[in-house]
Amino acid sequence: MNKKTVRDLRDEEVRGKRALVRCDFNVPLEGARITDDSRIKASLPTIEHLAGRGARVVLLSHLGRPKGKPDAKYSLQPVGIRLEELRGKPVQFVESTDTDEAIKATHSLKDGEVLLLENTRFLGGEEENDPRLSRALAELGDFYVNDAFGAAHRAHSSTAGVAEYLKPAVAGLLLEKELEYLGKALADPKRPFVAILGGAKISGKIDVIEQLLPKVDALLIGGAMACTFFRAMGLETGKSLVEEDRVDMAKDILDRAGTTLILPHDAIVAPAIDRPESAHAVTRAAIPPGEGMFDIGPKTAESYSRAVATAKTVIWNGPMGVSETPAFAGGTQAIARAMAAATDKGAITIVGGGDSAAAVAEAGLSERMSHVSTGGGASLEFLEGKVLPGVAALEDRAE
Ligand code: 3PG
Repeated sequence: MNKKTVRDLRDEEVRGKRALVRCDFNVPLEGARITDDSRIKASLPTIEHLAGRGARVVLLSHLGRPKGKPDAKYSLQPVGIRLEELRGKPVQFVESTDTDEAIKATHSLKDGEVLLLENTRFLGGEEENDPRLSRALAELGDFYVNDAFGAAHRAHSSTAGVAEYLKPAVAGLLLEKELEYLGKALADPKRPFVAILGGAKISGKIDVIEQLLPKVDALLIGGAMACTFFRAMGLETGKSLVEEDRVDMAKDILDRAGTTLILPHDAIVAPAIDRPESAHAVTRAAIPPGEGMFDIGPKTAESYSRAVATAKTVIWNGPMGVSETPAFAGGTQAIARAMAAATDKGAITIVGGGDSAAAVAEAGLSERMSHVSTGGGASLEFLEGKVLPGVAALEDRAE
């Protein structure tokens, strides 16, 4: 990580100063109830680090996709309440973001106090990275901290643009940790290095497959995207999801990948996704024309688990099947269990955010992974080798 972090700031740059901290508090909500607060918990180290050093902490985040205007169902107020509970200390909340009221509230903070402002996506210009908004946001702090790894792939005013107008602009501890885990796995992995990719579509994973293939010792494929490879091999795929326009691409990957790319040997199939009671296992060569694949089969789950058990570094992104349906969740759960066991034996295990992180949480195994990323899209783009705008905007550390 060649970016400055909050730990690089001198005490006189922190104490009594307004720290404008961009977090990713984009948490799942049912009404005003937060159903998963892991992103809030993950932001605590940076908030407490800054508050502990006497900064006046001003928090920004987006929540949902409210399209540039206020929408009460995406208010950050429930996040403020949860954050206060988790801290065991007050968190002030102001129902606006770039207003005189908000600026005044930032100036009224005392050393160590924390203020949360309203959803940045209530503001026109946020998603366009409008320099006018970036300049207005810069009025809310004396220095800028980006800790929103989950939104670091977005070039928005609060994640990137503001850093042009507010310096120092440094990384928070969560952003640093995410980049260190993912970066080290790509640059200098302990071997064997095994990657597991799942999910519905090969099209969303093509760049990450290309990036990982030359780096890993084994690339295990699961999820419906395996079916596009099956079609490329000339197998019957029945009613499985196949991306017809990617079959040639899948063929090309298979030709180049040799034995590094490993596909499921068996599958859990059913006549339809809403017919889990009819789920049964077949070999990949025996997918019935009237049925579709909705999970990897038990033999594949076993052999993938064995591959994970021998690995020293494991990265996982994307479920092996329709993991929210118990009859199609066996493969995903097997990978989660195998990774937990591998962590216990000293392997570095990294779970990309999004669906795989949710599956690991559901299995109660999050604590047994070396690192569960808080960013789904962001971790995928990082693994694809893309520059994350929220990171690029920060100041480099002097060599
Ligand atoms: C996420 O949940 O992946 C991040 O918070 C980014 O949200 P977005 O996809 O709405 O930009």
